[in-house]
Amino acid sequence: MTMDALDDLDRIWDRHGTGSLKWDGARARFGAEVLPMWVADMDLPTAPVVLEALRRRLEHPILGYPWLDHEYLTAASQWMRQRHGWGPETGQTLVASGVVPALFAAVRALSAIEDTVLVLTPVYPPFLQAVRSNGRRLRTLPLEPDAEGVYRIPWEQLADALSGARLLLFCSPHNPVGRVWSAEELSSLVELCRSRGVRVVSDEIHADLSQLPHTPLPRLMPEAVLLSAPGKAFNMAGLGGAFLSCGDEEARRLLREELERSQCQHATLPALVGGIAAWREGGPWLEGIRSYLRGHALYLAARLAADLPALGFRPPEFGYLAWLDLRRYGQDDERIDAVLREVGLGLNAGADFGPGGAGFRRLNFGCPRPLLQAGLDRLQRALDLLSPPA
Ligand SMILES: Cc1ncc(COP(=O)(O)O)c(C=O)c1O
Repeated sequence: MTMDALDDLDRIWDRHGTGSLKWDGARARFGAEVLPMWVADMDLPTAPVVLEALRRRLEHPILGYPWLDHEYLTAASQWMRQRHGWGPETGQTLVASGVVPALFAAVRALSAIEDTVLVLTPVYPPFLQAVRSNGRRLRTLPLEPDAEGVYRIPWEQLADALSGARLLLFCSPHNPVGRVWSAEELSSLVELCRSRGVRVVSDEIHADLSQLPHTPLPRLMPEAVLLSAPGKAFNMAGLGGAFLSCGDEEARRLLREELERSQCQHATLPALVGGIAAWREGGPWLEGIRSYLRGHALYLAARLAADLPALGFRPPEFGYLAWLDLRRYGQDDERIDAVLREVGLGLNAGADFGPGGAGFRRLNFGCPRPLLQAGLDRLQRALDLLSPPA
């Protein structure tokens, strides 16, 4: 497959029987046959440069332990510098098996049992689990949509919520509310966190799919911990692999020790080979994917505005995750689930994303256009079955 793959993105690939969580695991998750528009991987081919690098590597028949960490981290730093105008020094980076294991390890490394950890919700559910399952106190602060439906940080409440907290787990860009935080917003956040002595862990795994300029948090706050991976942008989540960076030497030592204690300081051979290829050679392909997804987001917004205006939908500022407010169609989440099952549509339940999520659903539109159209037909049927807004 070559760059021509970008001309064929509307092609539907049958993923059944490929061991896909999204497709093969959908019946177990939803209790029905659904069109799965939930977990965050795309129904589009993985970046061809990644597939080619894996194929090349498989020409050698021995798949032993890898020795590629340095190349992986160098490629990651260079990629970030070129793409986002800031990249970590390679001496300040560490390999991890995935962003989620790294997030859990960061909580253990940089806080103690019973410490308070703040999370802005609704948010990717492992943020909540990383705090709870490690015996820290979870403090949540809901983001607030403004009059245009743009989610904002409630600054006054944030100042209070940071008091007495040890860590802030921050999602930038923010899954699921669709925001790419501006440099101004990030500067205000840094100022408040510094004034209250709160360390920030910034998960930036969606940054490469931003439709707006993305500012890596450590550019403004070198002592922050950055977590990222090529899994989302290049659609290679099944391989795992991630990196951390932190400009504070002592915090970095604690992170390294915790990664080793929990034995998640390695990435697999395919993750390393694929990641290096993605960062070194995947830029042009990624541009094509971003523009394809931008087209989807605009299509989605136009169609929802025309057919389901009560949703008041705003397209996300990055990636392929749409956050749908179904509250005007009824407050009963179970009834909404039943209707979605009836029409055969598998979406993520908003309640799983913590306070502020109930009554919402997350729709993954990282798929060929015909699948998106079919999904929206089903969504429309579902909302017709629910009590229409007055
Ligand atoms: C914000 C965020 N972080 C991390 C992940 C997953 O990271 P990994 O597969 O590297 O553990 C996701 C996946 O959806 C995500 O949305």
